Amino acid sequence: QQGQTPQEHTPDNSLALLKDGYDFIFKRRREMETEIFRTRLLGQPAICIGGKDAAELFYDTSKFQRSGAIPKRIQKSLFGENAIQTMDGDAHRHRKMLFMSLMSRERLDVFMQLLAQEWEAAIGRWEGAGEVELFGESQELLHRAACRWAGVPIEEETVRNRADDMGAMVEAFGAVGPRHAAGRRARRRTEEWLEGFILDLRAGEFKADEGTAAYAMAFHRDLQDRELDSRMAAIELINIVRPIVAIGRYVVFTAIALHEHPEYREKLAADEGKYRQWFVQETRRYYPFTPFLGASVIHDFTWKGHEFEEGTMVLLDVYGTTHDPALWDEADKFKPERFENWGGSPFDLIPQGGGDPNSGHRCAGEWLTIDAMRVSLEFLTNRMAYDVPEQDLELSLSRMPALPESRFVITNVRLAS
Ligand code: HEM
Repeated sequence: QQGQTPQEHTPDNSLALLKDGYDFIFKRRREMETEIFRTRLLGQPAICIGGKDAAELFYDTSKFQRSGAIPKRIQKSLFGENAIQTMDGDAHRHRKMLFMSLMSRERLDVFMQLLAQEWEAAIGRWEGAGEVELFGESQELLHRAACRWAGVPIEEETVRNRADDMGAMVEAFGAVGPRHAAGRRARRRTEEWLEGFILDLRAGEFKADEGTAAYAMAFHRDLQDRELDSRMAAIELINIVRPIVAIGRYVVFTAIALHEHPEYREKLAADEGKYRQWFVQETRRYYPFTPFLGASVIHDFTWKGHEFEEGTMVLLDVYGTTHDPALWDEADKFKPERFENWGGSPFDLIPQGGGDPNSGHRCAGEWLTIDAMRVSLEFLTNRMAYDVPEQDLELSLSRMPALPESRFVITNVRLAS
């Protein structure tokens, strides 16, 4: 009854998914030469899809919903329970407008200024400090910039632990055992902290400027004209600060790309604007961050002769789509110039999701991420100098989220003369 859709016959593939990581769907797509196959994950049937047509299908909100599609273990670590990622329909669009309203050009420019200040301050701390672990340090500086931008107060005594907690929620998503448990504890602590802060804002004991995320989350009204529950307001505020801190991973990937392709340093210095944009886009395409996304089928339908049954879990292969040789020439090569001729489709460069961010679930912070990566690239190339000692920079595709073992250590940091 399930037509010609290629199918895996193993009883359950959850362990294979942990082992193959980012390559889980893509490897099977290559082996079966298909954009779609059926498998079983977490004890239920699942359909895996990848490629540009698949991405377009996945973002058709008349066919897929997020409610019931995101496992509780991901909500209790990475996302927060019942927040924007799991909403559908009008309620989702209304909540999404709240997030997108924080991303005006003007507000993004404010963030970039704060971020540049934090980079400068951080370089000051690193000078003469010996070994600097770029991953943890860049998460901290991003956290400082994020809190200032979002209207969240920073306390010097706790700032590093708070930043580490933001990072731990991201670290948890593809993990079982201690790394996952640490992410849940980090979420609990962070929600309690920011729920207290939201209550203080509402009570007038603390002020946040209009236009900041803190103000927006504290005083937003839903479609029934009710304030968000204080816990939910805290969760959505975390949905701003946490992913900004997560850009620290892209800072590390940028540093790896510069280390492994030093020839681009000159090109970046010479041909500023364009090269920097291409370099950032290629870093987002090439390096593994989001492995795949999940949704569930609303009503039975057929796509290219394949049947999708109501309630089935569908996974979109994000990593494989950004490495698909049908879409990317020499897909396995780091080649920023490819973006000179990129058509700008919303369904091929999908490291932060596809489609339209206003009407669907595509990342609300993609522009902010790109801008923040451009600022960071400017610091890593023109504004500071550093040495890279011998270390293991390999990125294993079975570690989700990917991170080099050494977390990128640099030494002899100084401001560029
Ligand atoms: C959603 C990736 C940075 C806010 C998403 C999605 C992905 C993603 C894959 C899900 C798309 C989907 O479900 O279809 C990333 C990556 C980032 C990043 C790799 C780099 C660090 C940011 C930033 C912000 C942000 C900086 C905010 C300041 C959000 C929000 C959603 C989201 C609010 C939920 C959107 C929705 O459900 O409608 N992101 N993101 N992200 N992202 Fe990002």
